[in-house]
Amino acid sequence: IAISVGLVLVAYLLGSFPTGFLAAKLLKGIDIREQGSGSIGATNVLRTLGKGPAIVVLLVDALKGVLAIALANWLYPFTNNQISLAWLITLAGLFAVIGHSLPVWLKFKGGKSVATSLGILLAMSWQVGLATLGVFAIVVAITRIVSISSISGAIAVSLFMILFKQPLPYLIFSLAAGVYVIWRHRSNIQRIIAGTEPKVGQKLVPET
Ligand code: G3P
Repeated sequence: IAISVGLVLVAYLLGSFPTGFLAAKLLKGIDIREQGSGSIGATNVLRTLGKGPAIVVLLVDALKGVLAIALANWLYPFTNNQISLAWLITLAGLFAVIGHSLPVWLKFKGGKSVATSLGILLAMSWQVGLATLGVFAIVVAITRIVSISSISGAIAVSLFMILFKQPLPYLIFSLAAGVYVIWRHRSNIQRIIAGTEPKVGQKLVPET
C-alpha cells in the first residue's frame, strides 16, 4: 500500500511539471494561461511561441508519462505481489494524467493531457501508442485541427486496447483517460460546433 501511495504521488508530481507554462515564462515572460486557448499544452505553445518550443514541450510532456510508467515498473518488485503490475502501471498513468491537467503549482489549471497520455500509452503498449498516434496524425493531416485529432485518438485508444488484447486495467485506463481528455476539450468542442476552432498554427482570441 505504501508503495502504491508513494507511486501515485510521484506520478502526479511528474505529470504536474508545467513544461508549457515554464517555456512561455522563460522565453517570452508571459503567462500562457492568458494566451490562445489558455492551455499549457504543446498546441497552445505552438500558437503562442512557435514550432521549436512546441516540439520540446510535446516531448517533455510525453516523457513525463513514460517516466511515470517506468517508475511503476521499477517499484513493482517491492510490492510483494499485493497489486498486479498492470494495475500499478494503470494507477501511475491515471495520476500522471491528472497531474498534467490539474497541477497544484498553477492553481490546478494545466493542459489537456494529450501528450502525457501518449507517453503513457507508448510505455504501456507501444502497439496501442503507435496506433493511437497514427489516428491522431491522419486526422490532423485531414482536418488541420489538433483538438479534433486529440478527441479522435481518445475515442480510438480503447478500441486499440481491445484489438491488441491488452490487460483489463489498461482498457480501464484508456476508457477513463479517454473520457477525461474529451471532457477537458469541452471549450474546443463548443468552438468546433461554432466553426471557430483554429487550425494548426492559427491564432485564437483569448477567452473571457
Ligand atoms: O492537445 C490539446 C489539443 O487537442 C487542443 O489544444 O490549445 O487547441 O485547446 P488547444
